[in-house]
Amino acid sequence: MGRRSSTVIFWLTTALVISSNASPILGSSKSDLLDLLNSNLKSLPSGLKSLFLPEALLPFSPGSSSRCKVYPGDKNWPSDEAWNKLNELTGDRLLSKPEPQGSICYPGAHFDAAKCANITAVWSRSYTHMDDPIEMFTPVAQGMTCMPPNVFDSGNCTRGGFPLYVLNATKPEHVQLGVNFARNTGVRLVVKNTGHDFLGKSGGQDALSIWTHWFKDIDYIENYVDKRLGYSGPAFKAGVGVQAFEIYKAAREKLKVVVGGEGETVGIFGGYIQGGGHSPLSSLYGTGADQVLAYEVVTADGEFVTASSTSNPDLFWAMRGGGGSTFGVATSVVVKAHPEMPTTASRFTFTSANIGNETFWAGIRSYVDYFVPNADAGTYAYFTLIPNVYTGIFTFNMSPFFAPGKSLNETKALLQPWFTRLNDLGIHFDPNITHFDSFYDAWRSSFPLEVVEKVNATTGSRMFPRANFQTEKKREELYQNLRQSSESNRVQVHFNIKAVDPANADNAVNSAWRSNILFAQQAVRWPVNATAAEILRIRKEFQTGDMQRWRDISPGSGGYLAEADRLEPNFGQAFWGNKYPRLLLLKKKWDPKNVFYAVTSVGSEGWRVESVDGLPNENGKLCRVA
Ligand SMILES: Cc1cc2nc3c(=O)[nH]c(=O)nc-3n(C[C@H](O)[C@H](O)[C@H](O)COP(=O)(O)OP(=O)(O)OC[C@H]3O[C@@H](n4cnc5c(N)ncnc54)[C@H](O)[C@@H]3O)c2cc1C
Ligand SMILES: *[C@@H]1O[C@H](CO)[C@@H](O)[C@H](O)[C@H]1NC(C)=O
Ligand SMILES: *[C@@H]1O[C@H](CO)[C@@H](O)[C@H](O)[C@H]1NC(C)=O
Ligand SMILES: *[C@@H]1O[C@H](CO)[C@@H](O)[C@H](O)[C@H]1NC(C)=O
Ligand SMILES: *[C@@H]1O[C@H](CO)[C@@H](O)[C@H](O)[C@H]1NC(C)=O
Ligand SMILES: *[C@@H]1O[C@H](CO)[C@@H](O)[C@H](O)[C@H]1NC(C)=O
Ligand SMILES: *[C@@H]1O[C@H](CO)[C@@H](O)[C@H](O)[C@H]1NC(C)=O
Ligand SMILES: *[C@@H]1O[C@H](CO)[C@@H](O)[C@H](O)[C@H]1NC(C)=O
Ligand SMILES: *[C@@H]1O[C@H](CO)[C@@H](O)[C@H](O)[C@H]1NC(C)=O
Repeated sequence: MGRRSSTVIFWLTTALVISSNASPILGSSKSDLLDLLNSNLKSLPSGLKSLFLPEALLPFSPGSSSRCKVYPGDKNWPSDEAWNKLNELTGDRLLSKPEPQGSICYPGAHFDAAKCANITAVWSRSYTHMDDPIEMFTPVAQGMTCMPPNVFDSGNCTRGGFPLYVLNATKPEHVQLGVNFARNTGVRLVVKNTGHDFLGKSGGQDALSIWTHWFKDIDYIENYVDKRLGYSGPAFKAGVGVQAFEIYKAAREKLKVVVGGEGETVGIFGGYIQGGGHSPLSSLYGTGADQVLAYEVVTADGEFVTASSTSNPDLFWAMRGGGGSTFGVATSVVVKAHPEMPTTASRFTFTSANIGNETFWAGIRSYVDYFVPNADAGTYAYFTLIPNVYTGIFTFNMSPFFAPGKSLNETKALLQPWFTRLNDLGIHFDPNITHFDSFYDAWRSSFPLEVVEKVNATTGSRMFPRANFQTEKKREELYQNLRQSSESNRVQVHFNIKAVDPANADNAVNSAWRSNILFAQQAVRWPVNATAAEILRIRKEFQTGDMQRWRDISPGSGGYLAEADRLEPNFGQAFWGNKYPRLLLLKKKWDPKNVFYAVTSVGSEGWRVESVDGLPNENGKLCRVA
């Protein structure tokens, strides 16, 4: 025992020297892990010391070849004492079995009918869930357990795909302790920020979750210089828990904008930015990941490192587009800031109700002719095509057409040719075209707060490249395929954007984004009372049917990893294109023991959640694929 702890202290001192290398990030953060371990290790029971050490200090090589991750009931499941020590070392930041929010609706200690009625009324709002330690916005991926019965009757309140322990992390050393504990014990690790991911990648049954939501610092850097990246200009260094509404406001105060998503509550410095990220500003500045100048990251071995053009450049490459929960847990990010700009936005809607199907669809067909010029003009259009099987009516909703940097006149001039064609067809509507002094005001006024927590739908996505619009024949083909999806009752959500990166960043962003003109989503729905077997059949038919049609007409293109279906076939090619082989090598280098996993993430092919109902969700053990 004496010999072993002196070895540990020896290792500790060497590591101290190694990790004190100055970070090139301005205002760089530091980790107190080694101080913390040095002052606490002695008092830990000898059997527990090793659970908290970074890999470099371990007297053994962690990782096991057991088929599944370690779960309650397994002989290697950590003792209560071990969990308690994790809690103590992190300064009381370990939440044990946080209750699902729906538990107030079910018999038991938490039942409260009045509170249940309240939360049921606002269940589909992201604000209801975003500060919750476990809630994911996709109950379908969680396993549909413990839902408020008036939203979906789960029958009882079980934890399903929710994690068992949550580290409410606010400092790098909290993240390091969580990563070390998961790696050294073999329990499943998940990383959750807000829970927005369409595939439910922030959950996992009986896992330890590192919750990054409260990394909320925002620092403005007036002049950030990175010669290798060719950038010299303003930037923000932000904690990874900062959300769109927070950074947009902070940027506005400095008369700046940053590239982020349209959705108010998206964790744009978490899963969004690591996975690429499309934005109302993408037609001007590229994807979210293209803006990254540096990250601070806790890696799978438990080290706290900088990933930038000069420090761990391969990790930096991978984490700009390679996806979250794969190479490490970021704790901060430095992103470019661009000048604030006046913006014009427009919302309008028309339906097939009074004009009939053929006229309605002729209107949609005419729009397809303007996707290329509109994206090339630097604009962004977010529109939906909603079928209603009961009434047979189709609805087109532009919400909004967004023209950053454009005057009212310029925007009107851009839209007029299409509007004239619509009017000539007999489609009349009332476009509200409004000019705003700032991107911020335009964004706040123009976007809807989207409905989350859908109980009977899954979305698939496809990027339609420029090639789909280059000839009359190709535009007609694309239009026919969109129409067919509406006619088979798919809800469609579209983004007419391009994501060319003007700075030409070399990163892991899906190569398909670079030629994108229409980023298209369609959702399949099933009856709320469908059985698991029926749901699986419907979801598979969606992939072999409507999604396959979209893939067939866009060969070599892809889908977007954060807004996609868990059943997307050949996801490596789809989500990363020609970047995938290098990403697989980097996964092996930075996380050889698969400490990190998320469904459809780089290198996830070797693992599968064995869900209790056989559906693609997190309600089951994570095991190796035989
Ligand atoms: C209402 C709504 C609007 C949206 N709008 C847009 C949009 O305009 N543009 C767009 O591109 N996308 C949009 N999305 C999709 C969004 O980008 C993804 O859901 C994204 O995954 C959200 O990231 P998050 O960190 O908030 O979510 P989470 O679900 O918490 O995390 C997503 C993934 O990233 C991982 N992760 C999160 N933080 C870290 C970290 N610090 N280090 C390592 N891994 C991490 C998680 O483990 C998980 O795998 C929208 C989604 C919703 C629900
Ligand atoms: C329910 O919501 C109402 C109004 O939003 C509020 O006044 C009331 O206190 C809430 N009740 C509970 C039990 O939370
Ligand atoms: C909860 O309900 C589900 C679905 O009805 C059922 O399969 C499961 O056995 C129940 N679990 C408990 C603990 O009652
Ligand atoms: C998580 O930590 C943040 C920041 O310290 C705190 O505000 C929040 O209440 C914590 N959440 C829970 C559920 O403990
Ligand atoms: C329009 O098409 C839908 C779906 O194909 C159909 O249900 C509806 O009856 C059609 N409406 C008219 C007016 O023909
Ligand atoms: C906008 O166009 C109208 C009509 O063409 C013109 O009268 C007006 O001066 C223009 N306004 C600006 C700000 O360019
Ligand atoms: C047009 O949109 C603006 C901004 O969203 C709004 O303030 C205004 O009331 C709208 N005008 C009409 C006539 O709806
Ligand atoms: C899906 O669920 C919603 C309620 O959440 C319901 O309105 C809708 O009809 C359901 N769709 C189908 C096809 O059952
Ligand atoms: C679901 O509900 C519909 C309508 O209420 C009914 O026709 C159908 O049989 C139900 N299906 C199942 C699997 O219970």
